[in-house]
Amino acid sequence: MLLVRDLAQLATPSAGAPARGEALGEVEVVERAFVLCEGGRIIACGAMSQLGALEGEVEEVDGSGLCAIPGLVDCHTHPCFLGDRVEEFALRAAGASYEELHAAGGGILSTVRATRAGDESELHAAVEQHRGWMLRAGTTTFEGKSGYGLDRETELASLRAVAAAGGVPTWLGAHATPPEFEDADDYLEFALTEVMPEAAQLAQAADVFVEQGAFTVEQARRYLSACRDAGLALRLHGDQFNELGAVELAVELGARSIDHLEATGEAGVRGLAESDVVGVLLPASALFLDRPMPPARALVDAGAAVALATDFNPGSAFCESLALVCSLASTQLCLAPAEALTASTVNAAHVLGRADRCGRIAPGFDADLVLLAAPDWRHLAYHLGGDLVATVIQGGRVVWSR
Ligand code: NIG
Ligand code: FE
Repeated sequence: MLLVRDLAQLATPSAGAPARGEALGEVEVVERAFVLCEGGRIIACGAMSQLGALEGEVEEVDGSGLCAIPGLVDCHTHPCFLGDRVEEFALRAAGASYEELHAAGGGILSTVRATRAGDESELHAAVEQHRGWMLRAGTTTFEGKSGYGLDRETELASLRAVAAAGGVPTWLGAHATPPEFEDADDYLEFALTEVMPEAAQLAQAADVFVEQGAFTVEQARRYLSACRDAGLALRLHGDQFNELGAVELAVELGARSIDHLEATGEAGVRGLAESDVVGVLLPASALFLDRPMPPARALVDAGAAVALATDFNPGSAFCESLALVCSLASTQLCLAPAEALTASTVNAAHVLGRADRCGRIAPGFDADLVLLAAPDWRHLAYHLGGDLVATVIQGGRVVWSR
């Protein structure tokens, strides 16, 4: 057993997933609290005054001056890459746009070249390094996409690397068209016949980048329908730069989520609000590319289910911190700290199909906790880029402590 005792506060989303509308801001706060874990699960939590005598061997963690929140859940990351894009970053700082670099064969395709040049062990080491960065920033559950291989071997190796690092693998087989193919249709034919059968055994979901210069709605429908038939949950990168109808497609296919939404207008907001598709907001990506922020407040007020994620990747969001994303949610997206907490825990877990055991501090849930060095849990969003994470507990064990 592991007992975290004398916490200044315990804060947890209290609504079921996905929380929408007012329920998004329902966070239960217990002052002077404890959390008791056994066998990797939370078995009790509440006020210290309710903690009875414990039998057997109990390891104790002193929570004095700390606040416990659920381990953060990053439901959208691209951790399977080699190399970096610091040169491109410097060019962008000097005025080049992300889309221009992409069109000139840089961007995603430059990371594809670097990733293909490595072997599987290097890919495993890279994902492990990125997982460590996320963990120290408070992320105890992460989704990881392939999408920088775009050949059979590297895509499958990427999915294996995410699983080996304890992540939830997503096959982003339709991220870009690699140069050895004539066009996007030609590439999709290859991906669906040569890669999908094995990718569907390794991944839990499939993802596609719907955008000018990437894949059309029609191509995405073909790819996602085939992936759904192979048993995969569906995700989309949509409305990042242009509204091409990705929201309508996500709703039509019953996707788990549509992610980005920086270019989504009123009809898209209404369409999402009337559906079960979660809108995954990636404000670190909008900030990193100096793009407009997604219409988060309008989505929440209209009743759409939303989640927050980092979009960690080498090009559009070199950021592994969901705590920073929570700050951006409050400062840029007009979400209350409580809404940001729900969106980066239980709603994100819902996107990964894990909300029954992940994203809340409650008996029966996975014993994944973050202890924040702050007198009030809302410092999670308040302390912009702060060094807040004191201790990370995963599966009932302390896995990191500063
Ligand atoms: O989510 N938009 C497409 N894919 C990633 C970026 C990938 C890259 O630039 O390497 C994203 O932003
Ligand atoms: Fe992404």
